[in-house]
Amino acid sequence: MKMVLDMDTGIDDAVAIALALGSPEVDVLAITSVAGNAPVELCTRNCLLLNELLGGDAAVAIGAERPLAKDLLTAQEVHGADGLGGYAGSLPEPATSAVDEPAHELLARIPDEHPGEVTLVTTGPLTNIAMALRANPDCVASYERIITMGGAFDVPGNTGPVAEFNFYVDPEAASLVLNSGLDITLVPLDATTGAVLTRSALEMRKHARGLPADRPCRNSAAILHRALDHYMEFQFDESGLDGGYMHDPLAVAAALVPDILETLDLPVDVVTDGPNRGRTLRRSVQAHAAAAGRGVHVAFNHDDDTFRRLLEQRVLRPVFGATLPR
Ligand code: BDR
Ligand code: CA
Repeated sequence: MKMVLDMDTGIDDAVAIALALGSPEVDVLAITSVAGNAPVELCTRNCLLLNELLGGDAAVAIGAERPLAKDLLTAQEVHGADGLGGYAGSLPEPATSAVDEPAHELLARIPDEHPGEVTLVTTGPLTNIAMALRANPDCVASYERIITMGGAFDVPGNTGPVAEFNFYVDPEAASLVLNSGLDITLVPLDATTGAVLTRSALEMRKHARGLPADRPCRNSAAILHRALDHYMEFQFDESGLDGGYMHDPLAVAAALVPDILETLDLPVDVVTDGPNRGRTLRRSVQAHAAAAGRGVHVAFNHDDDTFRRLLEQRVLRPVFGATLPR
């Protein structure tokens, strides 16, 4: 399976990269960065670093530094100032560099070169995809599948009461992409809030202990451990959750095991302005009819046993030597 990842590489995006690169049937052709969890230069640096340290050979391309119309909002309190836990100055400089081609051009070129063969997984604001579609509305139609983490329907938002972060940050891009008629599988908070990596499962504390914050982290295990420790600490303080939401890895898992998600086909849209900015909406029956019944495949549930097994076999065991309790 050929795959392209488009992401605002924070902590759960990093686990998503590890899952894709740890999957023997997947060839990650490219990783494109976008501003979101952190400014785009940091997200790009994180893509380069993880790609190198996890043994990938993906081309990394730099994406949009701001949303289509709104000012950038980051989530550095969740993901750390650097997007990977914020252990200032402790990340090594990547040895590789991003390619010259901008992300939105690369995202449009790749499916042209491999029509019907590439799966696109997006786990950040949809700015790059919207830019590609604006330049040429047909350019991303020949991806084999497009899987997008974003949105919240029947569960509370995580950026204000009703909005999910990726859609809140660039609601114009989300609305453009979801209304483009593309065949999209949407993985919203309704599914991902059930995909939790528990702290006890990983014995995170034990592994993180003894790593002073300023000690350089030179390998993926140390970097991911610290990052996850920060992520889980934040979520514990916020909501008492003893672990971290694996929003973005679930989108990659949906590419690996298509029936891991239970989906409903719905016409959807995103509110772009006002107090409900970023809210995901089911569109009306009339709008559904006008769109000739085309909808987005929205995941409301997932098979958590299969997801946990994938994470264990392809990330936790190879990277940390950790197993999950049965
Ligand atoms: C999404 O927001 C980001 O902070 C996460 O990386 C994930 O993509 C969840 O709302
Ligand atoms: Ca993300």
